[in-house]
Amino acid sequence: MQKFIINGGRRLRGELALQGSKNSSLPIMAAALLCFGECTLHSCPALTDVYAASRILNFVGCKCTFSDNTAVIDSSAVGSTAVPEGLMREMRSSIIFMGAMLGRTGECTVSVPGGCELGPRPIDMHLSALRKMGIDIRENGGDIICRAFGGRAKGAKISLAFPSVGATENVILAAVTAEGETVINNAAREPEICDLCSFLRRCGADISGDGESRIIINGKKQLHGCEYTIMPDRIAGATYLSMAAATKGEIILTNACVPEMEPFISVLEQTGCSIYTSENRIYMRSGTRLRAVRDRIRTMPHPGFPTDAQAVLMAALTAADGTSVFEENIFDCRYRHTDALLKMGADIQVLGKVAVVKGVEKLHGANVEATDLRGGAAMAVAALCAEGCSEITKICHIDRGYEKMEEAVRLLGGEMRRS
Ligand code: EPZ
Repeated sequence: MQKFIINGGRRLRGELALQGSKNSSLPIMAAALLCFGECTLHSCPALTDVYAASRILNFVGCKCTFSDNTAVIDSSAVGSTAVPEGLMREMRSSIIFMGAMLGRTGECTVSVPGGCELGPRPIDMHLSALRKMGIDIRENGGDIICRAFGGRAKGAKISLAFPSVGATENVILAAVTAEGETVINNAAREPEICDLCSFLRRCGADISGDGESRIIINGKKQLHGCEYTIMPDRIAGATYLSMAAATKGEIILTNACVPEMEPFISVLEQTGCSIYTSENRIYMRSGTRLRAVRDRIRTMPHPGFPTDAQAVLMAALTAADGTSVFEENIFDCRYRHTDALLKMGADIQVLGKVAVVKGVEKLHGANVEATDLRGGAAMAVAALCAEGCSEITKICHIDRGYEKMEEAVRLLGGEMRRS
C-alpha cells in the first residue's frame, strides 16, 4: 500500500501547469461512446478514475488507448451493453455510462453505484428523468436494466429537483441521439457540463443553453468522432492554490481556467492572499499568515463555492488568524477529513453541516489515512504547512483525482515523496 511522506514547513514557490479536469474527462469519455468513429482527447489526465473509464469503454467494444495525456477512443463497433458490477464499482461516477449506452444502443444494464466516502449517492433523479424519456427501467437485485421503448429514447421536458451534475450529464448523453427535443430545467451549471456540451457539439450534437439552468437538445440520428482538448481542472487548481496559501508561498498556475475558478478565488482573496489573473494564468502570493474568512463559506452548486474545494481550503485555514465557518450543503458527510486535521493539531468543531475552524498557531506532523479524494488532498495541504514529518496512507483515494501530486509539489519546492 503506497503512502505519501511529507516534510512540512517549506514555502511553495514556482510555476505549475494545471492538469486536465477529472470531472470533465469522465463524462466526455462516456460521450465518446455515442460517436461512430474515433475521438482524440488531449489534456486527458493520467488518473485511476480515467483508467477505470477506459476499462468500461474497452469492455463494451470500444478501443481506448492513452499516451502522454492523449486518449484515442474508437467507438465504431460497440458490442456489449451490460457493464459488470466490478467495473461499475471501480468509480462512483460510472453511472453516466448509462446515458451514453442508451444514447448509442437504446439499452443498457448497469449496477447500482454503491455509496462512497461522501455518503449515500442516490440516483433517483437520473432514473426518473430517463423514464420520462421513454426508457423502461427495472431494478433486479443490484442491476438496473434499461431499454428504450421502440429502441430509441424520446425527447422530453425534464425538471430536476436539484441541479445534479450527474443527472444533467446522463440526460444530455441520452438526449443527443433521442427522437425529438429535450429541455432540461434546473440543469447543473458546472463548467464541466459546458465542456461536455462543447465536445458533443463538435461531434455534431445540437445543444444550447449549457452553463445556464435551461438546456435544450435536439436529438440527432448519429454523431461522428472529433478531436478535443479537455478543460483544466479547477479543483486541482484550488488545491495547489490552497497549498501555496497555507505555506505562505507564491505560485503561478498556467493552463488555468480563470472564470471557472472565480467562485473559489473570491473566497481565497478574503484570507489576505494577493491574487492577479490574466487569460489563463493565476498569480498568487500569500506571504504572511492567512486571515480567517469572515463570511460563512457555504458550498453551493456552481457558480457558488464548490463543495470539492471545501476540504482543501479548510486545511489551509486551520492555522489562520481567527475563526472560519464552513457550511457543507451538497453532500451528507463531507467532513471526514477533520479527524486527521485534528490529529495534526487543528481546532475544528463539526455540528451537522457546519464546521467551525478556529485558527491555531501551527500544525504538527502526524500519520494519517486518506478518507476520500478531496479529504486526502486536504491532509496533504495540512502536512505541507505543519511542522515536522507526516505520512498519509490510502493515497489511492488521492490518485483518483490528482496526477502525480508529489511531483507537482516537488516542482514547487515542497518536500513530498511516494513510498
Ligand atoms: C459530481 O458528482 C462530481 N463528480 C463531484 O466531484 C462533485 O462534488 C459533485 O458533482 C457536485 O459538484 C464528477 O463529476 C465525477 P450531484 P455527482 O449529482 O454528479 C444528490 C470530486 O471530488 N443526488 O451533483 O455525483 C447527491 O447525493 C467529486 O471530484 C440525489 O439525491 O453530484 C448529492 O448530495 C466528488 N439524487 C447532491 O445531489 C440524484 O439522483 C449533488 O450530487 C443525484 C444526486
